Amino acid sequence: MRNFLEIGDLFPEEMKSKNYILYKRIIHYEDGTTKDIIILRDTAHDKVMMSNDEADVITCEDFLNNANGDVLILGLGIGFVVFPLLEDTLIKSIDIIEIDEGVIEMVSPIIKEKDIYNKVNIFHGSAFDYYNNIEKKYDTIWIDIWEDVREKELKEAKLLMDGYKGLLNPNGYIDYWTLDKFRIKYGIQ
Ligand SMILES: C[S@@+](CC[C@H](N)C(=O)[O-])C[C@H]1O[C@@H](n2cnc3c(N)ncnc32)[C@H](O)[C@@H]1O
Repeated sequence: MRNFLEIGDLFPEEMKSKNYILYKRIIHYEDGTTKDIIILRDTAHDKVMMSNDEADVITCEDFLNNANGDVLILGLGIGFVVFPLLEDTLIKSIDIIEIDEGVIEMVSPIIKEKDIYNKVNIFHGSAFDYYNNIEKKYDTIWIDIWEDVREKELKEAKLLMDGYKGLLNPNGYIDYWTLDKFRIKYGIQ
């Protein structure tokens, strides 16, 4: 079992790029404790793309516990799933494909600061065609490019699963972010 890290202190109060704003909110829990929540908001569409709140912990924990060896992640976001892998001896490399240059500019220096074993490479491009450029094989592939997953996104997920399966080593792990109930509702695994 791996645990997500408290990443609140790593981020400044606020950063802005062309398409996103990245900012902190303090959540006050009923037991009196607080937590810094980092929020990545898509400003053009006014929607939260990623955060480190409990919903993201629950929906990303299967990936986190299955990650091993050479890892490929589609979608940088706030790097929430990346931080716990940086010092893990089972993880050899972490390649990340991100479509938004502003997200890369805001988040990659924060990851690089913690990447003491130099495992992380971040590539600018779209997950939908980037696999054509990749010759490397991976032990773990995690597809996480959406803020919500319904019928349209599940169809995209299937496309990406088919596209990236060929980059997986034998017995490798590939999966995509979603909520199990949507998979069941739309009959897509
Ligand atoms: C939900 S966030 C990823 C969360 C991230 N895995 C984490 O741990 O913080 C989705 C990210 O995917 C990116 N994205 C959206 N469409 C993409 C595409 N076609 N190819 C690559 N990245 C994409 C977004 O810009 C955003 O940074």
